[in-house]
Amino acid sequence: MKIIHTIKQMRIWHEEERLKGKRIAFVPTMGYLHEGHLSLVQVAKQDNDSVVMSIFVNPLQFGPSEDYGAYPRDIKRDTQLAEEAGVAALFLPEVLEMYPYYPQLTTIEVQEVSEVLCGASRPGHFTGVTTIVAKLFNIVRPDTAYFGQKDYQQVRVIKQMVQDLNMPLEIISVPIKREKDGLAMSSRNTYLSEEERKEAICLSEALCICRDNHDKGEKNAENLIRYMVQRINKEPSAVIDYIEICDAETLKPLSYVQRQAVVALAVKIGRTRLIDNIIIGGRA
Ligand code: PAF
Repeated sequence: MKIIHTIKQMRIWHEEERLKGKRIAFVPTMGYLHEGHLSLVQVAKQDNDSVVMSIFVNPLQFGPSEDYGAYPRDIKRDTQLAEEAGVAALFLPEVLEMYPYYPQLTTIEVQEVSEVLCGASRPGHFTGVTTIVAKLFNIVRPDTAYFGQKDYQQVRVIKQMVQDLNMPLEIISVPIKREKDGLAMSSRNTYLSEEERKEAICLSEALCICRDNHDKGEKNAENLIRYMVQRINKEPSAVIDYIEICDAETLKPLSYVQRQAVVALAVKIGRTRLIDNIIIGGRA
C-alpha cells in the first residue's frame, strides 16, 4: 500500500494508475476505522481496480463547541487495517496541506437538503463536508466514491453537489454496519462508557419499533415518532436532538408515510451525539 501525504504525490499516483487503465475508487474517511469503513473498501474493490482511502479529520465540518480536538485518532492502527483490507493508496494529508489558508475563502453550500436534520442542529457542518469532499474529489479524481448510509443526509447532500456541479464520478451508498445488538458502527461509539454503551441500543431499537408499527399499518408520522420517543426516554442518559420522518429524496418532513421515507434520529447519550436511520415504505 502506498502512503501519500501531499496533493502533488496523490496527483502523480493517480496519473500513473490512469495510464495503466485502472478504474479508481475512493473511500474518504476521518479515520479511527471500524468494520463500517472496511465494508466500503470491500464493496469498492468489487467494481474497481484500485481503492484510494483518505484519512483526514476535517476541522471545517466541526462547530466551535464540537469534538474536533477529541475526535479519536490512531493512524498506526488505521494504516494496518487499510493495508489488510486491500487499499492501494492511503492519502494522509496534514491540515496545512488541505487548508494552507484557514478558513479558505471558497466553500460549497448545498441548499435545502443540507438545512434540515443534522444541518439544523449543526450549522455549517454540511458546508464543511461538501467543501472538503469536493477538494478531495479534485485531488484524488476517482471514478466512484463510497459512503456509508449511516450518514444518510451526508450521502444525499454529496449526491446533490455532484449532480449540480457536474462532477464526473458516481456516488455509491453502502448499507449500515451494525454491532451484534444493533448499534450502528461509528468512530464516536468509542466515547461511550460501559453503561452508556448499553443505553445506546435505544437508537436502533426505536427505529425497529418504528418499522414494526409502520409494517403493521401505522402511517401517521406523529404516532410513529411518539413510540420511538417513548423507547428512547426509557434511558436515563438519552437526550433526543431530533427524530424525523422525511421524504427519502427531498428530506422534507412527512405527516403520513405514503412513499419511501427515511426515519432519521440524533440522540445524545451522555456527551456523545449518535445518529442512525432506516428506510421505510420502500427500498433506498
Ligand atoms: O463521513 C465522514 O467521515 C466525513 O464526513 C467525510 C465524508 C470523510 C468528510 O470529512
